Amino acid sequence: MKKLILLPLALCAVMSATAKTAAKTTAKPAAKAAQNYTIPYAVAVQRADSVLKLMTLEEKVGQMVQYSDNKLTTGPESKDTARLSKVEKGEVGSMLNVIGAVPTRIFQDAAMKSRLRIPLIFGLDVVHGFRTISPLPLAEAASFDLKALENSARLAALEASAAGIHWTFAPMVDVSVDARWGRVMEGAGEDPFYGSLAAKARVKGFQGDNLYANYTLLACAKHFAAYGAPVAGKDYNSVDMSMSHFYNFYLLPYKAAAEAGVGTFMNAFNDFNNVPCTANAPLVQGILKGDWGFKGFVVSDWNSIGEMVAHRYAKDNRQAAEFAIKAGNDMDMETSAYHENLADLVRKGDVDIKLVDDAVRRILTKKFELGLFDDPYRYCDPKRQEKITLSKELRDGSRDMAKRSIVMLENKNNLLPLSAKVGSVALIGELNDSKEDMNGFWAGQGDINAVVTVKEALAKRGVKVNYASGYDLDTKKMKDLDAALDAARKSDVVIVAVGERAKESGEAKSMANIEISADHQKLVTELAGTGKPVVALVMGGRPMIFNTVRAEAGAVLLTWWLGTEAGNAICDVLFGDYNPSAKLPMTFPQSVGQVPIYYYYKSTGRPYNPKERHSTSYLDVPIYPAYPFGYGLSYTSFDISEPVLSHTITKVGQPVTVSVKVKNTGSRDGEEVVQMYVKDMVASITRPVKELKGFEKVSLKSGEEKTVQFTLEDSALGFYNNDLKFVVEPGDFEIMVGNSSESLKSATLKVILAPKVR
Ligand code: NOJ
Repeated sequence: MKKLILLPLALCAVMSATAKTAAKTTAKPAAKAAQNYTIPYAVAVQRADSVLKLMTLEEKVGQMVQYSDNKLTTGPESKDTARLSKVEKGEVGSMLNVIGAVPTRIFQDAAMKSRLRIPLIFGLDVVHGFRTISPLPLAEAASFDLKALENSARLAALEASAAGIHWTFAPMVDVSVDARWGRVMEGAGEDPFYGSLAAKARVKGFQGDNLYANYTLLACAKHFAAYGAPVAGKDYNSVDMSMSHFYNFYLLPYKAAAEAGVGTFMNAFNDFNNVPCTANAPLVQGILKGDWGFKGFVVSDWNSIGEMVAHRYAKDNRQAAEFAIKAGNDMDMETSAYHENLADLVRKGDVDIKLVDDAVRRILTKKFELGLFDDPYRYCDPKRQEKITLSKELRDGSRDMAKRSIVMLENKNNLLPLSAKVGSVALIGELNDSKEDMNGFWAGQGDINAVVTVKEALAKRGVKVNYASGYDLDTKKMKDLDAALDAARKSDVVIVAVGERAKESGEAKSMANIEISADHQKLVTELAGTGKPVVALVMGGRPMIFNTVRAEAGAVLLTWWLGTEAGNAICDVLFGDYNPSAKLPMTFPQSVGQVPIYYYYKSTGRPYNPKERHSTSYLDVPIYPAYPFGYGLSYTSFDISEPVLSHTITKVGQPVTVSVKVKNTGSRDGEEVVQMYVKDMVASITRPVKELKGFEKVSLKSGEEKTVQFTLEDSALGFYNNDLKFVVEPGDFEIMVGNSSESLKSATLKVILAPKVR
C-alpha cells in the first residue's frame, strides 16, 4: 500500500510554492509518475533553499551525516549501533549498505518520523552489478566499447534502484599504472584518455538523462584524487607526484566525470601533496568546486575524516571535522566527526555557517532531483525488485559484456576456436567451477547461486568433460596431478584455469608479488607434456605475471572475473560464437621489478639501447612488457594502413583529420580497436614517448575494408606545463595508428603558430 506522506505545514507551504515554479518549466504534476518528468537543477536548488530556511543547526548537520547499516559494513566497524533512532531524530541524512525494497522502507519510515521529514538517500557500492554481476570494471574496460560500458552501468542501475538504492559509489575513475595495487580491478586501467571516456560512459549509464527516473542511480566519481598512485602500490599509501604530471594524467578522468554531470564525488583516503585528500582545500574547493564549478556534493570515504588523526594531520576528530568542512567535504561517511562536532564548531565560531549551508544545499538539491521529496518510497517497491532482479535483460547484458571483455593473448597455430564437435575436454582447475570467484571483488550483493561456471557451461553445450582439480587454491600447491594428467590424456583438448582468487584483488588487496604461483604455472607445463593442446584461462583482477603459461600453453585467454554469465561467455569465445575483440587496458609486465610499467613512459636522457651499457634498462630482466597496452588478438587478421593527414602542416587551433584504411584480411568477421597515439617530438617539459588520443572499434566482415578517421584537435596536441597552463607548442608531432601501443605506423605533423589577427 502506498504510504501517505505527511509533511510539516511550513514545509508543505514551501514545497507547493516551489512546485509552482517547477510547473512552469516541467511537465504537469499529474504527469509526475511518467519517467520523463524531471526537476531541473535550478528548481531543485530553489527548493533546497526553501527547506534550508526551516532547519535548525543540528538538522543541517544531520543531513551531512552518513552511517552504514550495521548488518553490512564495507570498512572498519563502528561501535555505534543506534542508527534507526538517530534517523528518527533527524541526525542522519544518508545511509549506506541498507539494501532491498523492504529494509530501505523501514529506514525511510524512520526518517519520516523526524521533525522535517527529509528523506534519506541510500548509497551502496554498486560497482560491477548488483545481484546480476557483470565483469570487473577493468575487464569491462578491455572491451574498448563505450556503448557496452554505458549499458552495463545502466543495467546495474536498473537492478539496484529496484532494490531501494538511490546512489552508487561508482565509477572509480582512478588512473593506475601499478598492478600491485589491488584496486586496479575497479578502474579503467592505466590510460587517462581512455579512462576519461570510460568515466563519461559509466556516469551516463548510471545516471541516464534523468535522475528523477526511478531506474537511474546518482553516481559518485571516486576517489578524489590520485588514489590510484599509492607509493609502492600499497593501498591507502601516500601519493607524491609533480603537479603537472597530476594535471596531465591523473586528474583527467575526474574532470571528465564532472563534465559528464556526475552528481557526487568521493574524497580519497590518501594524502596528496602532503595533505590528506579529505582536508585538501586546493583539490576540493580549488579544482573541483572552483575551477570546474562542480555543483554536486562531496562525500568522504569511509572514516576518512577520522583517519586524519592517524595521518597525524589532525589532533582529534573535532579538528578533523573542521579541516574537512573547510576543504569542501560535504558529507561524513561513518566517522561521527560531523555528528559529534560540527554544530559546536559553528557555535564557537570555528566554522562559518555558510560552509554548512552550502553543503546541505548541495545534498538537498540532489534529493530533490532524485524525486525523494515527492515520494521518499519511490524506489521501495518489492514487486519491481522481484521482477527486475536477475531478469533475462540483466543476464543477457552481463553475458554480452563478459564476452566483449575477454582478451586473447596467445593463439598458436590457431588452436582456438575449438570445433563445436570437439569430442572431449579435460577441464583442469577449481577456478573453472568456482561460483564465488567468478563474481570477483565488489560483488557484495551478487547472487552466487546464479553464476554459471565454465564447467556448467561446457556441460550445457553437451561437451564431454573430464574434470580434475590439479591444484589447491589455498596451499597454492599442485594436487592430484595424476588425475589431471589422466584427464588430459583421455581428452582431445585441455582447458586449464590459472591465476589468483577473487579475494586476492580489490580494496586492501595489494600484492608485492603478482606472479601466478610456481606450481600453478608448472601444472600447465605438466599438462602440455602430455602432448595434448592446452588452452589456459587466466583469471584474476590485475595484470599478473605468467611467463611459463605464455610459453607452454597453445592458447591463452585472459578471462578476469566475468560475473554471473562467466562460464557462458568464456564458452562463447572458446567455440568461436564470439570472435574476441578486447584489448589490454593495462600493460602486463614480465617481472614484478618492472612495475610500475606503462606505455606512456618518457625517453630519459639515455633511452634504451641494447648496444649501449649506459642506457635505461635492467641488468636482470628485459625492459619490455609481456603484453603491451592496447594488445589483444582476434580469430581473424586486420591490416591497418599508414595514417594519412588532411594537412601535414597545421596552425595551432586548426584541427587535422587522420585517416587510415582498415581491412579484415582473415576468413572470419571480427572487430578491431584502431588506436591513434601522439608524440610531441620536442616540448618545454619532457613528454611521453606516446599518448593515446583516439580509438575506434570497427566491425568488419571477412574481406571488408573501411576508412577510419580521427580528428586531431588542440586537446590532443597540448599539455599542462609546469605553470599548470594548457599549451599547444609549435613543432613536430609523430602521429601513430595501429592495433596496439606497440604495433603502429606513423606520419609527421608540423604545428605552427597561427598568424596574429590585428
Ligand atoms: C571504502 C572504499 O574506498 C570506497 O570506495 C567505498 O565506496 C566505501 N568504502 C564504501 O563502501
